[in-house]
Amino acid sequence: MKNVVLLGPPGAGKGTLASRLVQAFGFLHVSTGDMLREEVAKGTPLGQLAHGYMARGELVPDEVILALVRQRVDARKGVLFDGFPRTVAQAEGLERFTSVDVVVFLEIGQEEVVRRLSSRRVCGACGAVYNLVTQPPREPGRCDRCGGPLVQREDDRPEVVARRFEVYMRDSAPLVAYYAQRGLLRRVPADRSPEEVFQAVAQILR
Ligand code: AP5
Repeated sequence: MKNVVLLGPPGAGKGTLASRLVQAFGFLHVSTGDMLREEVAKGTPLGQLAHGYMARGELVPDEVILALVRQRVDARKGVLFDGFPRTVAQAEGLERFTSVDVVVFLEIGQEEVVRRLSSRRVCGACGAVYNLVTQPPREPGRCDRCGGPLVQREDDRPEVVARRFEVYMRDSAPLVAYYAQRGLLRRVPADRSPEEVFQAVAQILR
């Protein structure tokens, strides 16, 4: 099994693609965003630390993230990293405990991600992701999977989305050149339907 990194700006569709890839290929899914939201919901010391950064659209410090990921990685399984690494320091830290085989870069413009994030809703109970325009639930306001209430993520407010995009351009976009230099980068246009994006990535992984 390969270790795969999903790279792309906020709202590019990393989480949506990851759930399909996990079903199709059986990866261990390591989403730092989901892990941090769980810690916030449980009110742990890590969650309390992370919450301020997340609500402002800033990155949680590298050493905190590396410790979190390190304890989750299982060397016997192929891992799908979603939203990690997000800085060159995280990418270098990752290399110290496991290898990366492929980096899928979801290419998409700011205008489209702003549109997607303003209409994203997530299940407050199970975390399933919807979009009021492109992937609406069967019953308005209710999760198809568990019936939980659909809510807007705190960091999907327009001013926070704008900050997340700036932080992405400053701290995460350099990873495109970093992985291209290592011959690992595969570019995938993400301004297409979830099915088309999935098929393009599945072909790369096969
Ligand atoms: P995180 O949760 O990782 O957020 P993100 O990277 O900003 O990504 P999103 O979850 O917003 O978007 P996505 O690309 O997964 O898109 P989605 O599939 O939901 O991180 C949140 C925060 O945690 C960070 O700001 C930071 O503070 C902290 N953090 C996390 N990781 C960190 C790290 N490594 N280091 C430091 N800090 C970290 O799709 C978006 C919407 O579009 C949905 O409504 C979906 O239904 C829709 N959609 C998806 N695909 C398509 C498509 N193909 N066509 C049409 N609509 C689509």
